[in-house]
Amino acid sequence: MTLRAETPQDAAEISALTSAAFATEAHASGTEAQIVERLRKADALLLSIVCEEGGRLVGHIAASPVLVGGQPGWAGIGPLSVLPDLQRSGIGSALMTEALRQLRALGQGGVVLVGDPGYYTRFGFVADPALHVRGIPAEYVLSQPFASRRSGGIRFHPAFGLEG
Ligand SMILES: CC(C)(COP(=O)(O)OP(=O)(O)OC[C@H]1O[C@@H](n2cnc3c(N)ncnc32)[C@H](O)[C@@H]1OP(=O)(O)O)[C@@H](O)C(=O)NCCC(=O)NCCS
Repeated sequence: MTLRAETPQDAAEISALTSAAFATEAHASGTEAQIVERLRKADALLLSIVCEEGGRLVGHIAASPVLVGGQPGWAGIGPLSVLPDLQRSGIGSALMTEALRQLRALGQGGVVLVGDPGYYTRFGFVADPALHVRGIPAEYVLSQPFASRRSGGIRFHPAFGLEG
């Protein structure tokens, strides 16, 4: 298993793997692949890491800037995708651990994502009542400060289409 930054040649395969990963997820919006494409086009990817195995891409994670209480300096993580036949074999964990390491190294103040607490709390994410995303139930707004805690509304990049 190799983790590396995406290259321009990876774009189509990342879209296909993202669509495949979310195809059977009840909570999926169906727009996850487009979110990655829009972030790339807007030059808003703080990181885009692929997991390569046997010459194919089997997993991917993205991160982009968010505003917390109107202030920059934190990152939003997602989408995170693993090919369905390879899920639950440690790929998602490896991608998340590497993304957190890189975002810290980039000097980000903290990270936030919208996701299943049953999965993400193992990486140190908590549901902090001081942080909220419009339209998303509080238990799914998971965050992890690297420096000091912040409070307020979180605005993901417009590529996520969360602004309503
Ligand atoms: C969610 C996802 C990224 C996890 O990646 P993965 O490679 O399958 O996960 P891992 O193998 O690293 O899982 C590690 C642990 O988390 C558990 N786990 C995996 N997915 C889980 C989930 N959705 N809920 C709770 N636990 C989960 C695994 O059982 C494993 O537990 P263990 O270490 O006790 O055996 C992957 O399943 C996926 O792509 N799902 C579809 C897309 C999606 O939902 N993405 C996340 C959006 S919030």
